Amino acid sequence: MFRSLLALLTVATAQFMPEPARADGDLPTKFLNQGSVGNTRHNLTQRQAAGGGPASIFMDFTRNDYGQVCVYCHTPHGANTTIAVPLWNRTVRATSYTLYNQSSLSGDVVAPGPNSLACLSCHDGQTAMDSVVNMPGSGRYLESQMTTQNNAFLTTWRNASGISPSLNSHNTLSQCMSCHSNPGAGGAADFSAALIGTDLTNDHPVGVMLPTGEDWNEPTGIAAGARFFDANGDGRMNSNEIRFYDSGNGPRVECASCHDPHGVPMGGPGSQFAPTFMRISNSGSAVCLACHVK
Ligand code: HEC
Ligand code: HEC
Ligand code: HEC
Ligand code: HEC
Ligand code: HEC
Repeated sequence: MFRSLLALLTVATAQFMPEPARADGDLPTKFLNQGSVGNTRHNLTQRQAAGGGPASIFMDFTRNDYGQVCVYCHTPHGANTTIAVPLWNRTVRATSYTLYNQSSLSGDVVAPGPNSLACLSCHDGQTAMDSVVNMPGSGRYLESQMTTQNNAFLTTWRNASGISPSLNSHNTLSQCMSCHSNPGAGGAADFSAALIGTDLTNDHPVGVMLPTGEDWNEPTGIAAGARFFDANGDGRMNSNEIRFYDSGNGPRVECASCHDPHGVPMGGPGSQFAPTFMRISNSGSAVCLACHVK
């Protein structure tokens, strides 16, 4: 069995010719990065809506191919009730994070809120990419999946490619690095920077409150559980507006303050998304200057 897996992998590897390397030695994305989350790296089916794109079968040893983009993060029914994120489908296990807590901070720091924990459910490298509460189809729901990854449950899924589910190792982002590090194996891009881990001390702080004073811009927009910079003045929190989330400890910076995991068009509907899932392009440090007066 192992020999045939190896043979398959060798065949698959041979199909992926190395692409022209970028300056940093990394490979460019095959996704269009426009139109839909389906055309971004957050499409864990690894199939592009508009044709082309990376070959999904190659990843069927590492994660279930649910054939639907949203399912890796959301479910229409039976969502994870342990976290306040819309219809969340992912396992969110209890994890302690080492917080950015320098004495230079003016305010207190609290543990990451839901709008960070959702991201960390993949980016901390602790939970399998395909660890969901409710797989597509009926009778594929397991309540304990809300907080605990159960591989026996996940292995009941059948990939359309026909690759035996018993060969699927339900990789965490850390394990995806066996190919997705630099130099990547078989033409896989380098994902090392996306592996944030549980030590958040070298990342922009989350769980911090916006101080007042001359060093800070004040968000004027008010929405349910959030404050935002109302760039277009329409009184609504638009996806291209940097924001603070209030999960009961006052408005705080979370991952989704700066990032939108679905991609935000930079020049009106249908245009190219801001790079790295930013809410606005960070050209000229615009993201930083939304909050910091520097
Ligand atoms: C056996 C090696 C291997 C492993 C392990 C692996 N991948 Fe890949 N991955 C590849 C290769 C090769 C490509 C490029 C495929 C192509 O260009 O068609 C790729 C492409 C991708 C892409 C598209 C990149 C882009 O922007 O074009 C994503 C997203 C991705 N993989 C996610 C994952 C995730 C998540 C895991 C872990 C669950 C994973 N991969 C594990 C080999 C691997
Ligand atoms: C990689 C994970 C991921 C994928 C894939 C994903 N989402 Fe989301 N989605 C999130 C997160 C995280 C939030 C919460 C954002 C926040 O904190 O403000 C969210 C919020 C939402 C919201 C409510 C807030 C908003 O931003 O509008 C809607 C609606 C939504 N998602 C729809 C979808 C649909 C439809 C799809 C599939 C086409 C999808 N999402 C795919 C992660 C994802
Ligand atoms: C279902 C798992 C999953 C969830 C949930 C998720 N991500 Fe990702 N994310 C990935 C994978 C896989 C990649 C590809 C790795 C890479 O690009 O280096 C990625 C890539 C990224 C990238 C880099 C994109 C690029 O173009 O290089 C950013 C930024 C990012 N995610 C931010 C977030 C944020 C913020 C959230 C929460 C709002 C989030 N992600 C939620 C799996 C996830
Ligand atoms: C204050 C704004 C801000 C916050 C908060 C923030 N990020 Fe980012 N993040 C950025 C910017 C800006 C970049 C782009 C850096 C670059 O282009 O080199 C980035 C890059 C990334 C990348 C891509 C790394 C790479 O080079 O591939 C990932 C993944 C990511 N962020 C995830 C997260 C997660 C998860 C959180 C929460 C723990 C988070 N971010 C919180 C601003 C932020
Ligand atoms: C959503 C608002 C927001 C955005 C956008 C933002 N920051 Fe911050 N930043 C904060 C808050 C709030 C703190 C914590 C301030 C405190 O408690 O003193 C902080 C802290 C910091 C610190 C640590 C300061 C210290 O005293 O240790 C640095 C450095 C920093 N930010 C740089 C950046 C950079 C660079 C960017 C752009 C990539 C950025 N910030 C984007 C709100 C933001």
